Amino acid sequence: MSADWSAELDAAAALLVAAGHAVAMTGAGVSTASGLPDFRSPGGLWAGVDPMAVASRSAFEQRPEEFYAFYRKRIDVLGLATPNPAHFALAALEKAGRMHGVITQNVDGLHQVAGAQQVIELHGNLREALCVGCLTVRPIEIIREALEAGDLPRCRTCGAMLKPNVVLFEDLLPERAWTAATLAARASDVMLVAGSSLQVTPAGWLPQETLDRGGRLVIVNQEATPYDRRAAVVLHGPAERILPALAAAVGARVEEGVPRSQNATR
Ligand code: APR
Repeated sequence: MSADWSAELDAAAALLVAAGHAVAMTGAGVSTASGLPDFRSPGGLWAGVDPMAVASRSAFEQRPEEFYAFYRKRIDVLGLATPNPAHFALAALEKAGRMHGVITQNVDGLHQVAGAQQVIELHGNLREALCVGCLTVRPIEIIREALEAGDLPRCRTCGAMLKPNVVLFEDLLPERAWTAATLAARASDVMLVAGSSLQVTPAGWLPQETLDRGGRLVIVNQEATPYDRRAAVVLHGPAERILPALAAAVGARVEEGVPRSQNATR
C-alpha cells in the first residue's frame, strides 16, 4: 500500500473502530476491478450514450429493441463478473462487526457473492427479470434466452413484457430499499462511501443524512466527489486496493486493543 494513504487509512480505521454504527455506501467504482464498467468515468457506460435513450422507462416502453440492445451487453458482462478485493474487504468488515451492511447503487449482486449479509440494493438487481404485467420475478436467464433467440422477452404467464429488475431512469426507487437505506444512513455515526460519484439522487442524498445527525464520512473514490469537503477522511485511489488496506488497519487496531478514547478523531 502506497505510503501516501497511511495517515488517511489510520484516521479512517480509528473512526470505524470507534463507531457505534457504521454503514457502507457503494457505487459502480467498487465493481470496475471485476470487469464491470462504471457510468461516468471516461469509457464508462454513459460515454457517448444518452441514458434516457437506452436505460429509461420510456425507452423500455417505446423503444424496446434499443433498450435491450443496451441491456443485453450488460447482462452478458455481468454473467462473467466475480467479486474483487473491494467487495471482500467490505464483507470482512461486516463479519468483524465493524460495518452494519452495505447500501449499494450497484445491480451486480457482487457484494452478496462476496459474503455481505446486509445489502440494500437501491437500484434493484440485474440477476432477475420482472414481468411488468403480473409482477412475476424470474431469473435473468429468461431474458438472456429470449434475446439470444432474437425475440423481445415476454412473460409466459400473462404475455406482458419482461424487464430487468433494475430501477430505470424515470422510475421511483423501491420503497422498502429507500426506507431501509435512509434509516441506515440516519443511524450511522460513520458512513464509508466507496466508488461513487454521488451525482445521482436520491441515492446521493444519503451521505447528508449521516452528516445531519453528526455522523462522519469516509470517502474512498478514484476522483473527487461533491462530499469531499464535508468528509472526515478522503482517500482518492482504487477501492480494490484501499478497502483491503482499511480492513487490515481496522483489524490491527482491534488487535492492539487501542482504547476507544485514543480511537476517535472527533
Ligand atoms: N476505485 C475507486 N473509485 C473508482 C474506481 C475504482 N477502481 N473505478 C471508478 N471509480 C470511481 C469513479 O471515479 C467515479 O467517481 O467510481 C465513481 C463511479 O461513479 P459513477 O460512474 O457515476 O457510478 P455511480 O456513482 O455508481 O452511479 C450511480 O447512476 O446512472 C446511474 O443507475 C446508475 O447506479 C448508477 C448511478
